[in-house]
Amino acid sequence: MFPEHRPRRLRSNDTIRKMVRETHIHPDQLIFPLFVKEGKGIHEPIASMPGQYRYSPDALSPVVNDIVSAGIPAVLLFGIPLKKDSLATGAHKRDGIVQQAIGKIKNAAPELMVITDVCLCEYTDHGHCGILDEKNRVSNDDTIEILSKVALSHAKAGSDMIAPSDMMDGRVGIIRDALDESGFEHLPILSYAVKYASSFYGPFREAAGSAPSFGDRKSYQMDPANVREALREARFDVEEGADIIMVKPALPYLDVIRTIADEFDEPLCAYQVSGEYAMIKAAASGGWLAEEACIMESITSIKRAGADMIITYFAREIARILS
Ligand code: PBG
Repeated sequence: MFPEHRPRRLRSNDTIRKMVRETHIHPDQLIFPLFVKEGKGIHEPIASMPGQYRYSPDALSPVVNDIVSAGIPAVLLFGIPLKKDSLATGAHKRDGIVQQAIGKIKNAAPELMVITDVCLCEYTDHGHCGILDEKNRVSNDDTIEILSKVALSHAKAGSDMIAPSDMMDGRVGIIRDALDESGFEHLPILSYAVKYASSFYGPFREAAGSAPSFGDRKSYQMDPANVREALREARFDVEEGADIIMVKPALPYLDVIRTIADEFDEPLCAYQVSGEYAMIKAAASGGWLAEEACIMESITSIKRAGADMIITYFAREIARILS
């Protein structure tokens, strides 16, 4: 009790504050999301995400080199195809957009880890993350067959890690089997195990042109009100063979990150999503928030909640701030 205890003693200068600091951020654990678009010479700003761009495969090399020189070890690729159809066939073509981009990135920067998002929403003409049955419901079991083809085509193109984000049941298991049967048993799966039906994905859907043309994603993504369900989702994915599990979004779900971190010993990833990025950017451009300080505070919170690695559109800024 005061006056014996004076917590301010350990806050009196930067040296002692650093010495007692409990949470550290390092670029080694940051992943940068990258949008690749079919075409040539594309370097197109994304209106809802100032500072983020869509790149065609031929235009990737400068940004990829910049990511490497910032000390960021990995990118997460999202593809934007020219043509979409009801069965998302563009997602597993040998010369599909992600498949092409992997090759270009590997040429430009062989040391950069390429993680590939596996989902159908960018490739279906209706924008849902799976294919539809005759009643326009997303058909789980037909979708996971296609997802396993997508994952295998990414593996064959040189992906270093497969990241299924669709939230279908059983997809981790079927993807693991497909990879193992084709000699990719070494390839890890980063599962979007706990992915909420969040309104914070808005800017991403504009960036990727992947908003559903009718309805919403609530029949496959999770209800924001639930946390016990998060434990079940994570458990099923781990049992099916997920190597790393993810919680997404991050900042509005810090309690979920903490719960999963306490219950599981698999490495835990958190995704600071497009809406979290856009909020900070918008407030900073209005002069209402200090951008760098808010970036670091939000990333520190996500780490403190229990995330090992963080997917963030701020990865390069964070690396710069830390250096
Ligand atoms: C694909 C996918 C989405 C995001 C990552 N993978 C969009 C969605 O589920 O609608 C969102 C990422 C972000 O908002 O930054 N299913």
